[in-house]
Amino acid sequence: MQIPIGLLGCGTVGAGVVSLVRRRADRVANMTGLRPVIQKILVRDLHKDRGVHFEHEQLTTSAEDILGDPDIQIVVETIGGIEPARTYILEALARKKHVVTANKDLIALHGPEILQTAAANGVSILFEASVGGAIPLLGPLQENLTANEVTDLKGIINGTTNFILSKMTEEGLDFDEALALAQELGYAEADPSSDVDGLDAARKLVILASIAFHTEVHLSDVRVEGIRHVTASDVRYADEAGYVIKLLADGRDRNGRLSLSVRPTLIPKSHPLAHVSDAFNALFVRGDAAGDLMFFGRGAGRMPTASAVVGDIIALVRNLKLGVVTSWPYALAGSRKPVVDFEDDLYKFYFRLMAADQPGVFAQVAHLFGELRVSMETVLQKRVAGGQAEIVIVSHEIPGKLAHEVATRLRSMPNIAVEAVMPVEPVNE
Ligand code: NAP
Ligand code: HSE
Repeated sequence: MQIPIGLLGCGTVGAGVVSLVRRRADRVANMTGLRPVIQKILVRDLHKDRGVHFEHEQLTTSAEDILGDPDIQIVVETIGGIEPARTYILEALARKKHVVTANKDLIALHGPEILQTAAANGVSILFEASVGGAIPLLGPLQENLTANEVTDLKGIINGTTNFILSKMTEEGLDFDEALALAQELGYAEADPSSDVDGLDAARKLVILASIAFHTEVHLSDVRVEGIRHVTASDVRYADEAGYVIKLLADGRDRNGRLSLSVRPTLIPKSHPLAHVSDAFNALFVRGDAAGDLMFFGRGAGRMPTASAVVGDIIALVRNLKLGVVTSWPYALAGSRKPVVDFEDDLYKFYFRLMAADQPGVFAQVAHLFGELRVSMETVLQKRVAGGQAEIVIVSHEIPGKLAHEVATRLRSMPNIAVEAVMPVEPVNE
């Protein structure tokens, strides 16, 4: 028996889904007796070359050809963005169709509404591809690790910024050069803001944290800082001090209180996340029973993302065979764990300052660190042009609020400019 599928959108990911469903249809049919078939595909332009072959009249520009077709039981959304994807998905669920989506923006911003609509209509929605591309993350957190209290999520979950920071580290490029290269190679979009300003990673962290910590999480709960201000000299100094700079998504649950951030962070070279280069993604998870786990792989691209989408389609076909529905309890419980800045947590901090290259200026800085009882682990000073010296200090572990106080007091000093303050990830907590 055939399971007709409607595909909304057929771009990078959608075209991969078309070819992968064709490649796996026999196997799924052998396993379940049900053969997934992409029956209709919604696009805007019927004549565009998409690199895959379509059957006669398989393409349409009318969403109603899919949403209004009673034979279509599974709708797959790969349009992206909020509208019209949100309306189409809500409509598909209301018409009792199961849904698969790769849309992190939509799930991060409207997840509870969409999951509650699915539950109210007795249908499933799966969205594994929305975080980490090919890497299985949501399934393991929701199913395999469900016996755990997950306390920590730490990850590199944006490939574009990881590619840019890798090129800055490995080839000494500055930010603008590395961004231009990322755009030339198709990693970064023409408007790269959502990636480089940390928003894409923050949205993915919202999805991960809500599942791992069993609570509703909002984008405004995440403290977000992007990588635009990270300079080639930050990368070089970090290297000299034994670190690499990564855009780290960090979620922590401490006895029901959450802290969520995305920010450039110095990672010790001995930490496994330091070796995640180019456009690869990785997520480090700590569970009370499982201990530490790390997931690694391709976070984007046509076939890696199609792998996750088609995995979800096959899971839905199995659901149909078994007559079961996948539910996401966190969205239904209406639970909201409090979100706080863990300002008392201890971290080393990296400070980069520009100071007048004059007698007594460094002594002033050292005096302030002494007065605030902040011990220095590494101090680097290079002479730079125009009578200005660049000073880099990595502190020993101090509470976040003390790092803010150091920065504020330094900013109030004449002859000193604070150019960068970044936390340093511990190797073992
Ligand atoms: P894309 O290449 O831009 O494809 C979007 C598709 O949607 C196109 O086929 C386009 O039709 C169609 N479309 C756009 N607006 C439409 C509208 N108003 N009505 C009907 N069709 C419309 O996007 P993508 O890169 O495949 O991404 C799709 C989703 O996957 C997004 O949610 C994205 O975040 C997610 N995702 C992507 C990746 C990746 O590596 N690309 C990785 C993980 C997750 P036309 O072709 O006719 O213009
Ligand atoms: N822009 C995203 C990234 C694509 O760079 O990781 C996958 O979501």
